Amino acid sequence: MEKILIESAQPYQVCIGQNILPQAGALAAEVLQPATLALVMDETVAAYYGREAKAAFQQAGFQVAEYFFPAGEQAKSMDRLAHLLEFLAEKGLGRNDCIAALGGGVTGDLAGLAAALYQRGIAYIQLPTTLLAAVDSSVGGKTAVNLQSGKNLAGAFWQPRLVLCDCQTFATLPQAEISAGAAECVKYAVLSDPALLQQLTDCALDAPWQQIVQLCVRYKADIVRMDEKEQGLRQLLNLGHTIGHAAERLSDYSIRHGEAVAMGLMIISRAAEKMSLARDGISAEIAAALRALRLPLHCPYAAEQLAEIALTDKKRRGEHINLVLPEDIGKCRIYPLPIEQLLPLIASGMED
Ligand code: NAD
Ligand code: GLY
Repeated sequence: MEKILIESAQPYQVCIGQNILPQAGALAAEVLQPATLALVMDETVAAYYGREAKAAFQQAGFQVAEYFFPAGEQAKSMDRLAHLLEFLAEKGLGRNDCIAALGGGVTGDLAGLAAALYQRGIAYIQLPTTLLAAVDSSVGGKTAVNLQSGKNLAGAFWQPRLVLCDCQTFATLPQAEISAGAAECVKYAVLSDPALLQQLTDCALDAPWQQIVQLCVRYKADIVRMDEKEQGLRQLLNLGHTIGHAAERLSDYSIRHGEAVAMGLMIISRAAEKMSLARDGISAEIAAALRALRLPLHCPYAAEQLAEIALTDKKRRGEHINLVLPEDIGKCRIYPLPIEQLLPLIASGMED
C-alpha cells in the first residue's frame, strides 16, 4: 500500500492499494476515536461494497449507521443534503462521531459537505470507488452541492481525516465511468506530465490505473500543500472545467463530469492554439489521448449557450474570468480573460 501525505492545515494520508477496503476500519481507528460512523453511499456502490465496508468499520469498534441514496449527480442537491443532515441528527451523531463517504465524487462531495456543516463540522473519511474520485475529488477537501443556478455553488473546503483508495473496486466500474475518470487523468497529464499523456494514449483503457492514481494524487498533494483554499495555483486544477461545467449543466447532468471535462479540454486547447498562445499540434495530441480513452472531442451545445452559463461560474472575477490555458503539454497558466472575449474564445475552440 502506498501512502501519500496531504499537507493541508490538518494533514492526512491517502492510502492507495489493491484489496485494502477491509483495512478501512483499522486505518480509520488510527486517526479517529471509534464512535458512531455514518456510512454514506449510493445504492449501486452499496450493493457492491457496502457490506464489506460496514464489516471493516464494525471490526474496528465503530458503530455503523448506513445512509443510502439513488446514484447520480441529482443527489448533489440542497434537498439531499438536508435529508442527510436530518439522518445524522436522528441517529444522534455528535461532535466526536464521523462520516465515511464510500463511492464516487457525488458521494464524496455530498457527504463531505454534510460533514463540514453538521454541528459546525465533524470528521469524515473518503473511500473513493471511481477512478475519478480516486485521482481527484476524494483528495483536497473541496465539497459541494449544486444549486439551480449552477454547479458546485454551495460548498466548503473541509479536509477528510483519511482517504483510502482500493483500486480493486475499479473492476466493477462500467467502461464509461473508467473513461470519465480518465478525463481527469488527461487533465493532470496536460498540466504536468507529457509522459503520462503518451501512456494514456498508448495504453488507453488498459492503463495501469493504480500507478496513475498514485501519480495524480502526488501532483495534487503538491498543489494543495501550496494553495489549499484555491487563492491562486490550485486554479490550475480547473483546466477544462469552466466550459465543462457549463456543458454538464446544459445537459441537466446527463453528460458525465469527466465527459464534460474532455469537451472543455478540447475547446480550450483548440482555442489556445488558434490564438497562438499554445504550441502548434497540442490539441491534436490531447485529442489522440481522449479518443483512445473513448471520450468525446466535441460538445453538443452552441458557443453562445456555453458562454452564457460559464459567465455565472465561480471563477468569474467581475469583468474577468480566470481560464486555465495550456501552452504546451506539461505547461499551463491561469489567464484572466476579459468577459467579452469568452464567447469568441469558445467559438474558436468548437471545431478543429
Ligand atoms: P459518481 O459518484 O456519480 O459515480 C459514477 C457512477 O459510478 C455512479 O452511478 C456510481 O453508482 C457508480 N459507481 C461508483 N463506484 C462504482 C464501482 N466501484 N463499481 C460500479 N459502479 C460504481 O460520479 P464520479 O464520476 O465519481 O464523480 C463526479 C462528481 O465528482 C461530480 O459531481 C463532480 O463535480 C465531482 N468532482 C469533485 C471534485 C472535488 O474536488 N471535490 C473534483 C472532481 C469532480
Ligand atoms: N478538482 C479541482 C480541485 O480539487 O481543486
